[in-house]
Amino acid sequence: MKAIVQTEYGSADVLHLEEVDPPTLPDHGVLVRVHAASVHAGDWHLMRGTPFLIRLIYGGLRKPQIKILGTDVAGQGEAVGAAVTQFKPGDEVFGDLSESGFGAFAEYVCAAPTAFALKPTNLTFEEAATVPVSALAALQGLRDVGQLQAGQRVLVKGAAGGVGSFAVQIAKALGAETTGLCSPSKVETVRSLGADHVMADSHPLPASHYDLILDTAAYHPIVDSLPALTPTGTYVLVGGATPRFFQAMLLGPLISKLQGRQVKCLTSKPNQADLILLKELIEAGKFRPYLDRTYTLDEVPAAIRALEQRRVRGKVAIRIP
Ligand SMILES: NC(=O)c1ccc[n+]([C@@H]2O[C@H](COP(=O)([O-])OP(=O)(O)OC[C@H]3O[C@@H](n4cnc5c(N)ncnc54)[C@H](OP(=O)(O)O)[C@@H]3O)[C@@H](O)[C@H]2O)c1
Repeated sequence: MKAIVQTEYGSADVLHLEEVDPPTLPDHGVLVRVHAASVHAGDWHLMRGTPFLIRLIYGGLRKPQIKILGTDVAGQGEAVGAAVTQFKPGDEVFGDLSESGFGAFAEYVCAAPTAFALKPTNLTFEEAATVPVSALAALQGLRDVGQLQAGQRVLVKGAAGGVGSFAVQIAKALGAETTGLCSPSKVETVRSLGADHVMADSHPLPASHYDLILDTAAYHPIVDSLPALTPTGTYVLVGGATPRFFQAMLLGPLISKLQGRQVKCLTSKPNQADLILLKELIEAGKFRPYLDRTYTLDEVPAAIRALEQRRVRGKVAIRIP
């Protein structure tokens, strides 16, 4: 099968289209013919091996253990293992391969049934492939870590990004008054997602206003955002600069004690029940992906470069015919 392979860490230049053996099907596995994948920030972190911690988590201190990247996938069941009852060949599925060895930038993937759910019927394969990692992070950040309640005010920072574009819509679906913060050139994109209010990220934040800040673009000190929270509000760090993540993780409890406002970190987890919930919300018209552009398999390096260089609005997909 054709796949995008990497044998060393580095820029997108280390990615090459090659012919490799297809995965074998164990009794407890589902073999999927990939129709589409998508790209998210974690893909280029794995490609570059940065932050260094990622090499400790996934092995490969000097060279990557994961040879075929790609976490988000949508496709059709090709075959199922003898012990699998949840899916059958021909089922249209989407899934998150982050706990299944990755490998979505290829013509076939094989993973446990729990990595997949039936694809939303009202999305194309390309659209469906953009959902799993980013929408799960948005859902789990708002609902589980942020404990968002209907009627509350939420600020989504990085609202035009992959996680942010889903977070704006899911926060609305959860009944919150939603403000999106993004770079000035992307204000209209965020408005089109249905945000109640949109602000360019150069705009000063109002004081004591938000019950929850979901920060997918933490590139400034966390304490700068806290005055915008109500005295009992919560700041949830999803992503951004690595030092900010450690700051929130290590100093969060202390800042929370001193400030009253909670500072928390999201570590999203693939979860089949949540994938099914996302499918139901999409089919009910509560949200849908903002698909900026579709690339072909050999264009994966270009897709990753576009994401790294902040040229993407919402999500990009990879079509694998
Ligand atoms: N904690 C978790 O479990 C979890 C799960 C998923 C993702 N993440 C992390 O969440 C972050 C966002 O992921 P994503 O997939 O949404 O990425 P993305 O699609 O590339 O979006 C990145 C966002 O960050 C903004 N941004 C990038 N560089 C910036 C800078 N220097 N200053 C200000 N804003 C900047 C972009 O703003 P513009 O759109 O205005 O350019 C964009 O909104 C990443 O760090 C990712 O690793 C964490």
